[in-house]
Amino acid sequence: MAKAKKSKLKIVKAKKAKKPVAKKANGLPSPSKKPFGQAGLALDGVRILDFTHVQSGPTCTQLLAWFGADVIKIERPGIGDITRGQLVDVKGADSLYFTMLNHNKRSITIDSKHKKGKEILDRLIKECDVLVENFAPGALDRMGLTWEHIHKLNPRMIVASVKGFGPGPYEDCKVYENVAQCTGGSASTTGFRDGPPLVTGAQIGDSGTGLHLALGIVTALYQRSRTGRGQKVLCAMQDGVLNLARVKLRDQQRLKHGPLTEFSQYGEGIPFGDAVPRAGNDSGGGQPGRILKCKGAPQDPNAYIYFITQAPVWEPICDVIGEPTWKTDPEYATPKARLPKLNQIFSRIEQWTMTKTKFEAMEILNKYDIPCGPILSMKELAEDQSLRKTGTVVEVDHPKRGKYLSVGNPIKLSDSISKVKRSPLLGEHTDEILKDVLNYSAKEIADIKLSGAITAPEKKEKAA
Ligand SMILES: CC(C)(COP(=O)(O)OP(=O)(O)OC[C@H]1O[C@@H](n2cnc3c(N)ncnc32)[C@H](O)[C@@H]1OP(=O)(O)O)[C@@H](O)C(=O)NCCC(=O)NCCS
Repeated sequence: MAKAKKSKLKIVKAKKAKKPVAKKANGLPSPSKKPFGQAGLALDGVRILDFTHVQSGPTCTQLLAWFGADVIKIERPGIGDITRGQLVDVKGADSLYFTMLNHNKRSITIDSKHKKGKEILDRLIKECDVLVENFAPGALDRMGLTWEHIHKLNPRMIVASVKGFGPGPYEDCKVYENVAQCTGGSASTTGFRDGPPLVTGAQIGDSGTGLHLALGIVTALYQRSRTGRGQKVLCAMQDGVLNLARVKLRDQQRLKHGPLTEFSQYGEGIPFGDAVPRAGNDSGGGQPGRILKCKGAPQDPNAYIYFITQAPVWEPICDVIGEPTWKTDPEYATPKARLPKLNQIFSRIEQWTMTKTKFEAMEILNKYDIPCGPILSMKELAEDQSLRKTGTVVEVDHPKRGKYLSVGNPIKLSDSISKVKRSPLLGEHTDEILKDVLNYSAKEIADIKLSGAITAPEKKEKAA
């Protein structure tokens, strides 16, 4: 018995050796022979039912669309995403608020509370991989689109939501950007110590949470390829902001063990309270930094540079600013010795930066690997040719507003190269989606139009 077993084993081994195992590693197909950038987009074949509005949700679905997903934006007939008509700059055209957040999507109008509208939505649910929404808490359920309903229709569906808060005392609250910045720890740690809390210009609550949600969605898609089933993905804006402000929660815990020595207030001899204070423009990391005036400030509101006194380049810093003795003077030579004197050190550095424009200073400092960055205005960013070349700033043409600038996909994939296409007009793709995605016949589409499920109220009256 034992002998026979052994010889069988040998035969099996011999057979196995002939298989081209390396090519099918991990169940993946053989590497594409097509040149990079020509093997289709990363999310080709993924279809998104996009029930998002305003900024947080649309940021997420725009990213997915840039990566190749077919994003079908559901909008209320006659009105659409509220941002189409907010901060309007060109009469009769969708606002930049809308156009800059809804590139590469298709738009269909559906009244989700209309009987026929619900039927169309159910058909869409069966045809899509992900439903993304950022309605006020409970709104999706009130439309009848509960998780149970969706999951029954399509067990593979991923349902992704942005809400202001996660489960807890505030879960039913509506939330906008600045509320999230305030409740997520950003505002209490932004601004100057002796001033009020401040919100930042970067939309970390809305766009930041949209980014978090996009990662949640692709992760759920990846897991679905193994499990075959969808799941719920939730990103609360408070959680997203807190995640981005995590270094401040780090500092909160450090406070128990003594003052935060990299904060200017330490050098100024001002005691710390029991919560992380606002630190002005002090660097958030262990390398002290400041915003310093350059030639032209303060008349030019952006003639400033961020200057970091990174420890490894302390010696070149001393040479550049004309204080070579600080390299060896024990009062300045070590990072620890410098911490109580940051105000004095930075005002000496500023004497030097004020003799240069921010771009001249940047050029000189970069030669010595001294970390720094000019304060760039939105005008300068809009005109920056290198950002145009990389597609981070793009010019888009729109039939109603003409050419406008937008931020392109900031995430660059070498095999999935994003092309920015203009945002859709309200309901522009309604017929196309009903016909090609949902297979409604011409007669059925005509009936749907008459039913009022996809038309604005005034058109409903005319149709009746
Ligand atoms: C952003 C927010 C404050 C806006 O509030 P809002 O303008 O009052 O909008 P809501 O989300 O409450 O939706 C309004 C209504 O439109 C309805 N609606 C939306 N699309 C519809 C459609 N296609 N057909 C019919 N009704 C539709 C909703 O069902 C809801 O009705 P209901 O309240 O009767 O259930 C809120 O949506 C919210 O808190 N969202 C979650 C957090 C978030 O994403 N905030 C950041 C936004 S950038």
